[in-house]
Amino acid sequence: MKLFQTIDVGNEYPQQRLIGGSFQVKNFFTDLKRHDLGPAFYERQHDGTLVTKFVTEPLWGVGTAAPYGHDGRSINLEEVILRHGGEAQASRDRFAALFAAGAGCHRGFPEHARAPAG
Ligand code: HEM
Repeated sequence: MKLFQTIDVGNEYPQQRLIGGSFQVKNFFTDLKRHDLGPAFYERQHDGTLVTKFVTEPLWGVGTAAPYGHDGRSINLEEVILRHGGEAQASRDRFAALFAAGAGCHRGFPEHARAPAG
């Protein structure tokens, strides 16, 4: 089933219009909620306020989407996962234990973490 139609063919960044019905996205890997990941992610704004919560990034295709974090400060998956703290501290620590045991990201992340070819 065709889901999208290009409405301005020839444009450098063509816009797509949804023409199909509803559809389900699988392996999106986000809860679309805001979380406090601790000070390593906090962002000071120009008005002096501190942003402490960020929306969970969809992990779909994340294997080929470096650099990581809203600020792009992590150059690889290991770094951004180990930067998690706050609400994600327990998950981060479990990953760190696996990582120390030699599992690494490539065995931990299945193929769907890579962008599809072509
Ligand atoms: C071991 C489990 C986890 C893995 C492997 C993981 C992996 C990742 C990765 C790779 C990113 C960067 C995505 C990108 O920049 O495109 C990310 C970002 C993020 N993760 Fe996790 N994560 C885990 C657990 C969690 C948990 C438990 C939470 C919330 C309680 C969480 C909340 C977030 C948020 C809010 C971001 C966005 C940070 C930002 O925009 O700077 N993660 N995660």
